[in-house]
Amino acid sequence: MQIVLMGAPGAGKGTQAAKLVKEFSIPQIATGDMFRAAVKEGTELGKQAKACMDAGKLVPDEVTIGIVRERLAKDDCKNGFILDGFPRTVEQADALNGILSELGKKLTAVLNIAVPAEDLIGRSVGRRVCKNCGATYHVDFNAPKVEGICDECGGELYQRADDTVETLTNRLNVYVESTRPLIDYYKRAGLYTEVDGRQHIDKVTEALIKVLTSVNG
Ligand code: AP5
Ligand code: MG
Repeated sequence: MQIVLMGAPGAGKGTQAAKLVKEFSIPQIATGDMFRAAVKEGTELGKQAKACMDAGKLVPDEVTIGIVRERLAKDDCKNGFILDGFPRTVEQADALNGILSELGKKLTAVLNIAVPAEDLIGRSVGRRVCKNCGATYHVDFNAPKVEGICDECGGELYQRADDTVETLTNRLNVYVESTRPLIDYYKRAGLYTEVDGRQHIDKVTEALIKVLTSVNG
């Protein structure tokens, strides 16, 4: 099953991808997480990505497409994958079609987690992420049992550098301009389904699984 998970910044892509990984035993490929790992390692890619991420801009298409091409060729993607945060531009979507056809695969579904703009800033500003395992929490909507500590592994929770109101405003503008056009792109391809992302986290997961079970026969 080859899935694209779409949604504005803070819509719940990472939260839902983690649940779908457990349900379908296929990996989550999150370009944002890959860039954050490169920043942590201090690689050339990390330096380039950091400047874009801190400004709330997209990392250039050729860089992003390159890392996804490499990642999708890995063995653990053989039975499918969940793309979280890729593609984000029409150029990336076109490139993904090319990469998949080289691999002899097709997209199964494109799922958009729809959340109104007014909810998005609060979701991201209240987000906390585990330094160790990457699990995602929210101070109000999905609080850990002990403040600042990950339920899953006991790791320390931190706030992402790009989760400031100013950067988020840029990220939301970039989403509207560059990524939202992919809704029509994938509607035309007959792959698109929208799920109501305002529901409780578990209800969103149920809705996504229902769609995936039906499209996957
Ligand atoms: P990325 O890391 O992908 O960030 P994003 O798209 O802005 O999305 P987020 O990770 O912020 O949100 P999410 O949808 O995963 O929500 P989450 O589940 O955490 O990208 C970061 C940067 O990297 C980009 O700005 C860009 O610079 C670069 N980049 C990445 N991909 C790129 C690409 N393809 N091309 C070029 N550049 C790229 O949830 C958010 C919060 O809400 C959490 O606190 C969560 O607990 C809570 N929450 C989740 N669901 C619910 C719910 N149903 N109800 C209430 N709260 C909820
Ligand atoms: Mg995410």
